[in-house]
Parts: sequence; structure tokens; C-alpha cells
Amino acid sequence: MHFRVVSDLEGEHLDALIVPVFKEGDAASNAPTDIRATAEWVAREHGDTNMFAPITHLQTSGDGSTRLIVVGSGKRADFDVARAWQFASAGVRALWQSTAVRIALCLESDAIDAQEAVQSAVEGVIYAMWRPESHRTTQKDRQLPPLDEVLLVIGGTSGDYDAAISRGTFVGEAVNWSRGVANEPANLMTPTHMAQAAREMASHTSLKVEVLGEDEARDLGMGSYLSVARGSDEPAQVVVLRHHGRPGDGYDLALVGKGITFDSGGISIKPAEEMHLMKYDMSGAAAVLAAAGVAARMNLPLNLIAVAMCTENLPGGHATKPGDVVTSMSGKTVEVTNTDAEGRLVLIDGITYAQREGAKRVVDVATLTGAVRVALGRLYTGVLGRPQSFIDEVLAAADRSGERTWPLPLADEHREEMKSEIADLRNSSGGRLGGTILGAAFIDAAVEDDTAWAHLDIASTAWYEDDRPFSPKGPQGAAVRTMVELAATIAKG
Ligand code: BES
Ligand code: MN
Ligand code: ZN
Repeated sequence: MHFRVVSDLEGEHLDALIVPVFKEGDAASNAPTDIRATAEWVAREHGDTNMFAPITHLQTSGDGSTRLIVVGSGKRADFDVARAWQFASAGVRALWQSTAVRIALCLESDAIDAQEAVQSAVEGVIYAMWRPESHRTTQKDRQLPPLDEVLLVIGGTSGDYDAAISRGTFVGEAVNWSRGVANEPANLMTPTHMAQAAREMASHTSLKVEVLGEDEARDLGMGSYLSVARGSDEPAQVVVLRHHGRPGDGYDLALVGKGITFDSGGISIKPAEEMHLMKYDMSGAAAVLAAAGVAARMNLPLNLIAVAMCTENLPGGHATKPGDVVTSMSGKTVEVTNTDAEGRLVLIDGITYAQREGAKRVVDVATLTGAVRVALGRLYTGVLGRPQSFIDEVLAAADRSGERTWPLPLADEHREEMKSEIADLRNSSGGRLGGTILGAAFIDAAVEDDTAWAHLDIASTAWYEDDRPFSPKGPQGAAVRTMVELAATIAKG
């Protein structure tokens, strides 16, 4: 699939043309005049241009026929990076089951610059090609359009869009990769499979791969992480990817991901309803691995390490029991009051490992708490950490990348609440209040004073339960774009 930026469609033969119509009633200004009129008429007939659904498509006949896809795209002034990829994805998804080979998308660059519009549209086209039915034996509803050339129409500019196109391609493919990994069932995406998937992905890049097994984790003193793995017969795996983009050692950024390939809750077992969804409890790990892949493919001038803490969380004869005390890699002891609060147990050892490797900034990404869904709903990722200046950098990077994040507070009293009678820490307070904050307050104990740390709780955003015009229900690849943008910003210095 080739992307090409053009300023008009003179003389182009297309199978489909995808045009946004804004809430104000007008179509993208760079669409051909006759098409614009048709698109605006279609939108008026349909009566709602505030949604992202491709509101209709119809054939226009001329020499050959071009299918026109009109996508209601909200207010023109709100057409930002997120809406740009959503527009592109919704438009291309309307071409499922079609035989379109050459298509064009009309872009607007009022609210964003042309480079951002191009990058986002490339991402959106790639997102549209992801489908969740990896294990269906009938291919009927898996008919991807055989796209060969995608033209992006952006008026009046003759700039160089190569970097925007390749970054959009890398990010789009990385998000889709993380969605695929998160969507696989737990029997086919064990910690060993995750290590294998990471090796395969990294083999197409300059990333260095290291996989630590349980013996190596034990030698490193990762007793908190290993306490989660005890109930499972599947060997736990810590997957480490390294990108060296500048001379010298140490890491400018560490990404630590929660990789629970299945979270049954352990001895503190979860209720049966919805438990099957806990296959996606490794979404944070998938996201950090994917983001590292983009850093390498973009050749960003920074040193970055991604650490994916993979294991199952199951009950069993050897499983950790509520009340057990374990020793983390930092030396701090933890009373495991609830074996279902396992994410924080694996993360603290991953964060300690990253700091020992010389990371001065750490971002951890985790489907950590059901409480973040209660607090923020399903559109916003929760962000906590310290110092505030780093939180602000992460929030700003998320914003630029088009991902929605929202800060939550973290006070010393919250840290106090995670102290244990018998050990240094307890992993659960037992209460229902402020669950997302208390999860972060626990992780905080592993963060050294001179480390900048942000915790992204993606339990709200990793998986969306409904189909949307721009995305099927299921894994959403949350946080990949934010981490790539953060890494790119740090690399700029
Ligand atoms: N993986 C879950 C959190 C989760 C819930 C993610 C729903 C996605 C959807 C996590 O390990 C968990 O079980 N958290 C507990 C923490 C509690 C025991 C302190 C929770 O949220 O109830
Ligand atoms: Mn759990
Ligand atoms: Zn979990």
C-alpha cells in the first residue's frame, strides 16, 4: 500500500473518494467542486454531520465509476489529529467487502498542520485494516479491500510528507500489532508466546531483545513479580527491548508494561462473568513493546528500554495466598493482602529493574484497576506520578498524539494507606475508595527520588465494548501513540 500526498485530483482515476462533511454543512474545501456539492447534498439529506459514521456512499458515474464516501466529521474547527484518523478509518472501513484498489481521502488542515493531518490519515487507513476475527475459519466477513494506492489530498501545500507518511505507517502498524497481541486468547498468548511475538516484531528493527526466565528473575530478586507467577504452570517471562539511538549509556526513557496474559484473580478469584476478558490484561506490555518498535523504526536519537512483565495470575497448589509476604527487587517487603491486585506486584519489580539499568524517566502502562473505569469512564486513560512537571509532559504528549488522558491526584496520605502492619507495604487497602490512586500509591514505593515517573492506568481505554465507525469493539491499542510522542519529544531534547 502506497501513500501519496497530492494537492488536487486532476486526472486521477479512483475507485473511491472519501470526503468529510463538517457540521457546518460544507465538505472539505479541496474536494473537486462537483463532488463537494454532491457530498453536501448527501449530508443535508442525511441530516446529521456530527457523527463519524460514513453517512452514506453512492456511485458516481463518469469514465469508470468512483464510489463517493461521505463521512460526517463534526465541526471543522474540531478536526484535530484524533478526528483525522477517525475520519480516515471510518471512511476506509466503509470499503470493507469492496474491491477498491486506488482511493483518495480529502483532508482539512484548519485545526492541525498539514503534516499532522497526513500522519493521522495514514494511521487511520492502517487502523481500518485491522480486524479481530483471527480464528474464524470462514473468511466471508474478513474481506479487506485490496488497496494499492492511497492519495491524500491536502490543498495548496507542496511540502515534503515522507516523514509524516513513514511515522504514520510505523505508528499505525504498531497500534495494530498491539491490538492483535491483546486480542489473542490466553491459551495462544502465554508469556512464552509474548516473548516470541516480541522477538519476531523486533527482528524487523534494530532493537536488541533479551528475555529473562524465572531463574534469571529469581537471581535478580524479583520476588514480588514471581509471587504472581507461582500459581501458573506457564513460565513467566520478562521481555526487554533496547533501543540505542544516541551514544553513551543509560536510558532517557523506560517503558514498563503490565503483561498478565490471563488474570483470574488468583486465590482472590474473580467472578465468572467477564473473566474471559482478562486475556487483555497484558495490553500495557503489548503497548510498551509496540512503542519501542516505533522508536527503533523512526531511529529516534534517544536511548529507550521497554520492559514487559509477563505472567499468568492463576490459583493453584503453589499459588500465593492472601496474607503471604514477599520481597521485591527493591528490597521492600510486601504483604499480598489481595492476589487480584497483581499488576502492581509485577510493575514494582519492572520499575526497579529499569532504574538499575540506568533509566531516569519511567512510564508504566497497565490495565491496573477497575476503579479507573468508574472514575473516568471508557474514554480517558488515568495518569498519576511525580514530579508534576513530568506528568505535565506526559499529558501534553498524549494530547498532541490525539489520545485522551486525565490526571488523578496522589498524596502522602495515599502512600500511608498502602503500608502494612507486618511488612513495608500491602498491595491492597481492602476498601473500595480511590482504587486507582491507591494502585499508583503502591507503585510509587518502587520509584526512587530522582526518577521521573508516570503511571498510565489503561483499564478504561485498552478495550472498548462496542463497535464504532472507526474501530471494531475490542482492543484499541491504547497508549502507544502517547509513548511514541513522548519519546520523540524527549529525543528532540
Ligand atoms: N486486571 C485487573 C483490573 C481490570 C479490571 C482491568 C477490569 C480491566 C478491566 C486488576 O488486576 C485487578 O484485578 N484490580 C483489582 C484491584 C483490587 C483488588 C485492589 C480491581 O480493580 O478490582
Ligand atoms: Mn487482578
Ligand atoms: Zn490484572
